[in-house]
Amino acid sequence: MGAQKLCNKNDLVINSGVCALAQVNGQPQQLAVFYLPDTEQQVFAIHNWDPLGRANVLSRGIVGSIDNELVVASPLYKQHFSLTTGECLEEDISVPTFAVTLSGDDVLLSA
Ligand code: FES
Repeated sequence: MGAQKLCNKNDLVINSGVCALAQVNGQPQQLAVFYLPDTEQQVFAIHNWDPLGRANVLSRGIVGSIDNELVVASPLYKQHFSLTTGECLEEDISVPTFAVTLSGDDVLLSA
């Protein structure tokens, strides 16, 4: 399987998240895509669904870092989810992560 174009680089917001719709295993899924141009990887994607707040909101969370771990704070109950592992720092729960890369002006999701 190849890479799927998620969106354009211009659709991203610096140091923040956006929501993008992707086909994952044949199903439409909301991804929260974060653009952190000052980091080595630059783009990160986790599922947009907050399993604790039970809503698709993680793309609207505030991005930061805790103990060198890049995280997003859910806008609902403020738990932090790692942008690299999807793990919640406060609760024993995690969200799926997705491999995304920048290729020129394209944001690609690896299948
Ligand atoms: S994310 Fe829905 S109100 Fe803030």
